Amino acid sequence: MTTAPGPRRVRADDRLSYGRVGAPRRRINGAGGAVGGFAVQLAHRAGAEVTATAGARSAQRMRSFDAAHVIDYAATPVVQAAKGPFDVVLNLAPTTPEHTDALAALTADGGVFVTATTAPATEPGREVRVVRMAARSATSLSWPTC
Ligand SMILES: NC(=O)c1ccc[n+]([C@@H]2O[C@H](COP(=O)([O-])OP(=O)(O)OC[C@H]3O[C@@H](n4cnc5c(N)ncnc54)[C@H](OP(=O)(O)O)[C@@H]3O)[C@@H](O)[C@H]2O)c1
Repeated sequence: MTTAPGPRRVRADDRLSYGRVGAPRRRINGAGGAVGGFAVQLAHRAGAEVTATAGARSAQRMRSFDAAHVIDYAATPVVQAAKGPFDVVLNLAPTTPEHTDALAALTADGGVFVTATTAPATEPGREVRVVRMAARSATSLSWPTC
């Protein structure tokens, strides 16, 4: 397991901090939640092509946030729904370590896997960087310095 650095706290209005990763293909798992809604919009504003995994009840909202692809996690297993690899994968959903490993495997070589919930059970390798993210409220997000 890579030793992930501590989260760097940034304010939500520091929108460009999300874009500093400079990677175009992003997968956001758990996009239907409060944090995910911000993440999809900020990633799109940063010029990313966003694939959002969310429940059916959230699909229309994801499209209104300009997600390029919306995957219903209840209808399609994560690995089958893969449209990756992705330069950045952001996990905001309650996942098992095994499910988290499957998500991390969708990260492109040299990409970044960010999780606000469960850490991967195994080291993804391939120079994929694992980052722990903390989200404290609707007005405060943490994002790694990249
Ligand atoms: N580390 C920290 O400091 C910290 C702080 C706050 C929150 N968090 C965590 O960060 C995550 C995001 O926070 P939040 O407030 O946005 O959570 P939230 O409002 O509970 O949203 C999580 C969303 O994940 C979706 N989801 C549930 N099961 C899923 C699955 N198996 N695959 C994909 N998506 C799934 C649901 O979407 P639908 O509604 O579309 O079904 C749900 O709305 C939460 O897990 C929370 O516990 C961490």
